[in-house]
Amino acid sequence: MNKSQFPVDFAWGAATSAYQVEGAAFADGKGPSIWDSFSHTPGKTDGGDHGDIACDHYHRLETDLDLIAELGLNAYRFSISWPRVQPDGKGEWNQNGLDFYDRLIDGLLKRGIAPHVTLYHWDLPQALQDDGGWNNRATCYRFAEYACKLAEHFGDRVAAIATHNEPFVASMLGNLFGIHAPGNNDPQLASQVAHHLLLSHGLAVQSMRAVTQVPLGIVLNLSPCTAATASLGDQQDAKRRFDFVGRFFLDPLLRGAYPESELLVPFPQMEAGDLELIRLPIDFLGINYYFREWCSTDTPPIPAPCLQGVSEMGWEVYPEGLYELLTQLERDYELPPVYISENGMACADTVSADGTIHDPRRIAYIEQHLDALSRAMGEGVSVRGYFHWSLMDNFEWAKGYSMRFGLIHIDYQTQQRTFKDSALWYRDYIQRERFGAKQKEAML
Ligand code: FCB
Repeated sequence: MNKSQFPVDFAWGAATSAYQVEGAAFADGKGPSIWDSFSHTPGKTDGGDHGDIACDHYHRLETDLDLIAELGLNAYRFSISWPRVQPDGKGEWNQNGLDFYDRLIDGLLKRGIAPHVTLYHWDLPQALQDDGGWNNRATCYRFAEYACKLAEHFGDRVAAIATHNEPFVASMLGNLFGIHAPGNNDPQLASQVAHHLLLSHGLAVQSMRAVTQVPLGIVLNLSPCTAATASLGDQQDAKRRFDFVGRFFLDPLLRGAYPESELLVPFPQMEAGDLELIRLPIDFLGINYYFREWCSTDTPPIPAPCLQGVSEMGWEVYPEGLYELLTQLERDYELPPVYISENGMACADTVSADGTIHDPRRIAYIEQHLDALSRAMGEGVSVRGYFHWSLMDNFEWAKGYSMRFGLIHIDYQTQQRTFKDSALWYRDYIQRERFGAKQKEAML
């Protein structure tokens, strides 16, 4: 007897992003992005890795689409490279770029897979960076034009459009900690970038609503913040961390105001009307969940328990955190429907002599996170889908190709794709769930 825990229309997916998989970084009229510049700057990525070729997905689209279909996914999340469709981020459109995404979207639809689009996964056109990038308010208006163009172009063919992926990471890792493009270390700038990313989201929602009915949202990286002890210092630290990583973005989006607490960065400059735009209603919130934040003010800090180990990234494996996070958000906010838009782990995967790839830790990771997810849903959190990060091994930003997050293994010498054990396990899990859900519905 199949007992399904997920609704019949649940989106079962995997995710990628343009710069991490496409390659063809300078082909067919694509303009350079800040990630092209950053990854080609010596010392910025492990081993000097860059995304010039990556998984060569741009040239291997049809076979990759077949692999997605073979996995039995009914949804796929990908991002559009802004400089591929508009090389300078303003003015001229690149027909070759639009054609590529048309082939991708139509290829998914032909295979019965719902396209979930993200408009910005960190690859800003370099030409806009040269004019100040996200620190320049004008970039927000360029983004709204770009969003409107794409919504007009394919709004009637996709299942959902997210404006931004992880504005926290884009603003803070890129402009406060300097480890992502464009590589700045400036708290005031980082804060202004965060505000402009949010403002551009609002302006894009406004411009897209005028031309399409498709569900619109945004994707945030969120973590529950756990105090190491009951001490006041640790409790306050946990609150401060959540204010910075979570509420700095959630509050303007869902409550129309920035949190009043002291953040790691100064307050951004705003203009009248900005907060109204940022809080325009959204149809879904995408949540990327990888780990919890462990907050200790001791010197040296009390380490996180890591009872289930850590991933190759050094991130604590903590499935319960997904349950904790979702139920906390449900209590604290008027939450729109949620997608888990990313969740996954980097493992040191190796190909065995017989060509198979055994990744039992990834299988356990997915199973336990789906279990936590279904429990949160049982408590009333409305979750519409789960996208594993990632469909395939890819360019992991500052870590280059050293981190393997894929369900599909990539041999970067030959570009050969191989399903890892986890891919086959996920395929079977989805099949059982979808079959069980259908049976359950038929019985009602
Ligand atoms: C997230 C990013 C994604 C990937 C994963 C591991 O922060 O959105 O592109 O790098 O982390």
